[in-house]
Amino acid sequence: MNGVKWLLFMCIAFLHGYVWCRTIFLEVNSPTLEELGFMRRYGYLPEEQGDFDFAYTPHSISEAVKKMQLFAGLPPTGNLDPVTRSFFKKKRCGVKDISSPSRNRRYILQQGWGKKIISYRVLNGSSTLDKERVRTLMADGLAVWAPHGGLRFQQQDDGHADIQVSFASRDHGDGFPFDGPGHVVAHAFPPPHGAMHFDDDELWGDGTSDDTDDDITDFFAVAVHEIGHALGLSHSNVKSSVMYPYYQVPVEKLHMDDILGMQELYLKDELPSSAESTESPSQSRSSLAPHFTKADYSDEEDLPDLCFTNYDTIQVIQGKIYVFEEEWVWVLSERQRIDPGFPRRFHDVFIGLPKHVTSIKTVYEKRNGNIAVFSGRVYWEFSSTFRLLRRGKLSDYGLPRYLPGLSTVFVSNYNNKTYLIEHERYWRYDEDRGRMDPGYPKEMSAWRLVPYPVDAAIIWQGDTYFFHGPRFWRFDNELVQAHRYYPLPTAQIWFPCEPTPEMGKYVTNDEP
Ligand SMILES: *[C@@H]1O[C@H](CO)[C@@H](O)[C@H](O)[C@H]1NC(C)=O
Ligand SMILES: *[C@@H]1O[C@H](CO)[C@@H](O)[C@H](O)[C@H]1NC(C)=O
Ligand SMILES: [Zn+2]
Ligand SMILES: [Zn+2]
Repeated sequence: MNGVKWLLFMCIAFLHGYVWCRTIFLEVNSPTLEELGFMRRYGYLPEEQGDFDFAYTPHSISEAVKKMQLFAGLPPTGNLDPVTRSFFKKKRCGVKDISSPSRNRRYILQQGWGKKIISYRVLNGSSTLDKERVRTLMADGLAVWAPHGGLRFQQQDDGHADIQVSFASRDHGDGFPFDGPGHVVAHAFPPPHGAMHFDDDELWGDGTSDDTDDDITDFFAVAVHEIGHALGLSHSNVKSSVMYPYYQVPVEKLHMDDILGMQELYLKDELPSSAESTESPSQSRSSLAPHFTKADYSDEEDLPDLCFTNYDTIQVIQGKIYVFEEEWVWVLSERQRIDPGFPRRFHDVFIGLPKHVTSIKTVYEKRNGNIAVFSGRVYWEFSSTFRLLRRGKLSDYGLPRYLPGLSTVFVSNYNNKTYLIEHERYWRYDEDRGRMDPGYPKEMSAWRLVPYPVDAAIIWQGDTYFFHGPRFWRFDNELVQAHRYYPLPTAQIWFPCEPTPEMGKYVTNDEP
């Protein structure tokens, strides 16, 4: 990096050489034409600016890189470091990650088939995988999704089917040519189109050969993902979900994110949670009509307004932000982006949680992936797929029997320990060893400049945040205190809420 330092010196020394310096600096961290092409192709950079990288500002490029990193599950630095660059070349699906950089990000357009029986047809196989084998693997892949939408798939040998599966290479007539071996391995179109295309220049395997062979692309893994598109799902930035855009093997099961997507597309009208909201005749939408997430609850009188409320608790589960207030839960894939289908009643997400639990005061994702929901002296543990596993007591954690309940639980990314907070005191639990650390409880005042009682504490993209009332603080693990320029208003930063005149008064926190 000496060269960069030297350049910096030169730039300072020759101020009027600014334009020249800026150009050179850009080259140090500037994307190649292929990388720009990638960011345009998958929706991170606008298309209309032509092929010249000069049309993009350094700022717009670094913002695009950040978005791409967030989607891939990388730290959003905006820099084209080697790990980020490696993602531009990875095997992946050819469908866009961000469909349109719409201003109105709250509303995500999705549609399903609007029917429960869906036909499919395999038109041909590849040189390494015959048609018969493709048909079998397709049936297996469809069976993974079917139960989550209450769907039935019917194979047909001729005529037009809803989902048509074929292998093709390079330009194959749909405006999305394949790129030869590597990178894009397949793409699929949402209903009512439903075609699934696999790149015939890949070496397709059926899982019987050595899985670790990088040259072989596992047909089943890719097919399960593409079926998701053919059923109407978009890409997910959750790495463990099937709808993550980069190729991952093996595919074992669907993730909560995939399952919720299916429920939204195919089961929504059948779910008890939406029973009341779909009573009004205007809501019975025609099968293929686009629908918008929030509209379903617009008449809901008891739905709290996320922009004007305190929050019972907030937690990050499986990489998504869960916000609890009264009997509702909102799920956000990133700040200010509410997932389709939310808010929902939390009883419909944590199925099996007793009805007498009318609010969730704290919840956290355990180190083993299970999710614990606390209420008073007890907790309920759910699997990572949100199945109820067991009920436990606070004393199982080694907490005193007389403790009436906890206000916040979170796992620190600093030491992987679980912090159990009760108003002014906290305990530290070692989940890997299954025991409480000695020397606790301690006083919350150890977390300097953090207000207490805290309503929630979360780790989001590497940082620790505390929430109290309508505001939040970011904690500095190195200074062991809240950052000085906090608190900020939670609604405007984390949720899609309009700025209010009051925002200004929150932006400084000079008090001790
Ligand atoms: C498979 O069928 C599609 C659609 O008819 C066609 O474009 C493609 O060339 C065929 N592929 C092979 C390998 O025959
Ligand atoms: C915490 O756990 C993660 C994953 O289990 C591991 O990668 C990381 O190194 C751990 N950190 C510490 C400080 O032990
Ligand atoms: Zn895809
Ligand atoms: Zn195609």
